[in-house]
Amino acid sequence: METETILVDSNVNKEETYSQAVEMLQTGEVVAFPTETVYGLGADATNAEAVAKIFAAKGRPADNPLIVHVDSKESALNYVQNVGPKAIQCMETFWPGALTLILQTKPGVFAENVTASLSTVGIRVPNHPVALNLLKRVKLPIAAPSANTSGKPSPTLAEHVYHDMEGTIPLILDGGATMIGIESTVLDMTSEPPVILRPGKITKKDLEAVIGTVRLSSEIQGNIPKSPGMKYIHYAPEAPVYLIEKTDGLIEKAIAHVQNDGKKVAILSSEKHPSADYCFPLSAETLYASLRKCDQTDADLILAAISADANRSEAMMNRLEKAADHKWFS
Ligand code: TXA
Ligand code: MG
Repeated sequence: METETILVDSNVNKEETYSQAVEMLQTGEVVAFPTETVYGLGADATNAEAVAKIFAAKGRPADNPLIVHVDSKESALNYVQNVGPKAIQCMETFWPGALTLILQTKPGVFAENVTASLSTVGIRVPNHPVALNLLKRVKLPIAAPSANTSGKPSPTLAEHVYHDMEGTIPLILDGGATMIGIESTVLDMTSEPPVILRPGKITKKDLEAVIGTVRLSSEIQGNIPKSPGMKYIHYAPEAPVYLIEKTDGLIEKAIAHVQNDGKKVAILSSEKHPSADYCFPLSAETLYASLRKCDQTDADLILAAISADANRSEAMMNRLEKAADHKWFS
């Protein structure tokens, strides 16, 4: 299959930009499109065959449910039930935006493979003009996980999607770099108090300002992970990633140590390290692109420089710890 890319650029509000994508989605094909977090790989959430193409293209385990994307709160309410006042407040405050709400689905509205046969669904309204224009025109709920091969860093550029999906999907809408760069916060509204299953740009503090107490799934001891996706290795480049503390001289020492073994080292850091073989920027927005850049080098090892800064992004640390499988360089 040929993979076509349509560059959106200044045609973001033009009808022609979306006509091909809309037709493909309505006839059971998959289409990649940008959201404000990462690129998604979309298909009609009511069509099991279309959804199966997402799992096949990504190599995604069937027990990992997909997030459904809709154009508004009103559309979302067509598909979910027992929606309490806190969920409504979240929709009104944070949508469109990077917050996925886990709610009970109305029976029979989605294909079973969307929810991995759970009685709940993850649903959100993305805050990106291309995604919103597409959703408004397609008039269907669109299931869309991140548009990467399963286990790889999520795509923040259309070229990342092309790299992973070339020959496997028919169409990519190229809306440039995504703004946030890390997947949405996933908030389980079926627990009381609600539980953050996956941290993101919208933080515990942001949520608590609106709906009161919210718990982090990591704080709940002995609980089995409720977000099935969180148990899989994620965001991993080819070379092993190690976290390293940004304290005086430690990084330079580590670089020399690795190089003395005849190995090449890539550093992810907000600062420059001229002695490293490769150095790429590290922030929430650049994390995935930098991990992918490491794959284009011959680095044997990747060091991610972490500061003890209280203001560092919780969501970025969550993804980095997974990419490193919690390994620290010592
Ligand atoms: O920012 C995002 O959320 C991006 C863009 C494309 O919208 N999408 C995304 O989807 O990250 P995905 O499929 O890569 O991640 C979905 C996460 C997984 O961890 C999955 O297990 C969890 O949401 N999830 C989905 N449905 C769930 C459910 N019913 N209960 C618990 N967790 C669920
Ligand atoms: Mg993903």
